[in-house]
Amino acid sequence: MSTAQAPVAVPANPFAQDVDERLPPPSTLVLFGATGDLAARKLLPAVYDLLADGRLPERFRLLAVVRGTYDDASFRTHAREAIDAHARRDLDERLWSALEPRIDVVSGDYGSPELFEALAARLDAGDREDGAPSQRLFYLAISPAFFADTARGLCAAGLGRGADPPTRLLIEKPFGHDLASARELNAAIEAAFDEQQVFRIDHYLGKETVQNLLVLRFGNGIFEPLWNRTAIDHVQITVAEDLGIGRRAGYYDRAGALRDVIQNHALQLLSLVAMEPPASFDAQLVRDEKAKALRAVRALDPARDAVRGQYTAGWLAGEQVPGYREEEDVPADSRTETYAALRVEVDNWRWAGVPFYLRSGKRLPLRTTEIAIAFKPVPHQPFRDLDAPPPPNELVISVQPNEGATLQVAAKMPGTALRMRPVQMDFQYGTSFLRESPEAYERLLHDALLGDATLFTRADEVEAAWEIVDPVLSAWAAAPPAEPVVGQPEPYPAGTSGPASADALLARDGRAWRPL
Ligand code: BG6
Repeated sequence: MSTAQAPVAVPANPFAQDVDERLPPPSTLVLFGATGDLAARKLLPAVYDLLADGRLPERFRLLAVVRGTYDDASFRTHAREAIDAHARRDLDERLWSALEPRIDVVSGDYGSPELFEALAARLDAGDREDGAPSQRLFYLAISPAFFADTARGLCAAGLGRGADPPTRLLIEKPFGHDLASARELNAAIEAAFDEQQVFRIDHYLGKETVQNLLVLRFGNGIFEPLWNRTAIDHVQITVAEDLGIGRRAGYYDRAGALRDVIQNHALQLLSLVAMEPPASFDAQLVRDEKAKALRAVRALDPARDAVRGQYTAGWLAGEQVPGYREEEDVPADSRTETYAALRVEVDNWRWAGVPFYLRSGKRLPLRTTEIAIAFKPVPHQPFRDLDAPPPPNELVISVQPNEGATLQVAAKMPGTALRMRPVQMDFQYGTSFLRESPEAYERLLHDALLGDATLFTRADEVEAAWEIVDPVLSAWAAAPPAEPVVGQPEPYPAGTSGPASADALLARDGRAWRPL
């Protein structure tokens, strides 16, 4: 008897739709903030890795906008060093020598019209040299204080709305400091570019496992019928980091965990879990559904639904680490939260009564980002003589550092007695695909070059997310510092799982956080 079987046809991934195979049209990437940290650690390496994977357009230029004293030669050296240090692929001399002459510098002040005129002239000169026009992508990896002026400057130089060759604007976080400033920024950008030209970056959407959440939900038949209040008890979204704030006090002390991670990354994850299935993976349809989910979030009561904490000195991985207020450049009386947790309800037919618990913090025991879908316990327990009821099922999508998903099910332990234990059905990217996931920025840059905005946040989504956190931010800012409990973030020693009130937030509902 033959055991050979016909190969099983693997259905196409409905989300990625052969994106890797599509080659973007000729493009010039104009990098504002080209000598900054993000460019060195993520953006320049992503350009190189795309090149190494054959995913850059055949005709590609990189134009670095710098404010300092760099010229073409010194910037190329800087770019090479950044690529050498941070790209996934080893630097290949043959590839580098193809890329290097395509890198040029324009220098000037983001606020001055001359910069944008020089930029337009440089872009035209590049097209002339190449004998054909290229689309232009402006990537703003600069201080948010310059976002609006830069958009205006580009538009005034004929590089905004209606530009020919076509242009796109990519904007890094933070997108606004609160709802009012986000609206103002959206208005300034909308005055200069069409929304279809605007690509707001939330790098979490570029992560493989985050996209896999959509494939898991909408590419499998078994989850969607259960993906609602009937089967799901609650959802936990965790973005935990063991690192402190490093040398980012200047930014972080004005931001805090709620703005830095919850308003963007964690709420984006929530929107992907909570959204209705889109009719197709079209950028507008996907973002319509995400925005609807965010708009369905019930207004938070800051005193009841939000918790904030701040790390004090402690121990992590055997090392003693300072408290937040002792970090370089942090004021000794800082009230900035390094931990935030929210209890969120999505008021719609699907999710009524299912709490979503969100938490994020620095100096927690480990780095992990995960989405845990906790299912309801069995309605009736038919096994007699059991010490404890079977543990409820749990689906955990692990975004990082372990990329994968596990489904916890109850299993009978071997033996004559009926004893149960939760076991894990495990999917890990590393073992299933035996290939490294691309960096989030590679995926996002490639999509932006292709003009696919599915994984970028739209103006209404960003504003809906600010609407959720704004009342909490205002309440925290308004509380007099001397007022006990509400006036200050609650201390938690570095290396612990966060402040006690975060545990109380769930204990009140008879639940507990997944251990870190
Ligand atoms: C950034 C935040 O957006 O995300 C950082 O500003 C945070 O504070 C980082 O550390 C986390 O990103 P990742 O990809 O390392 O999880």
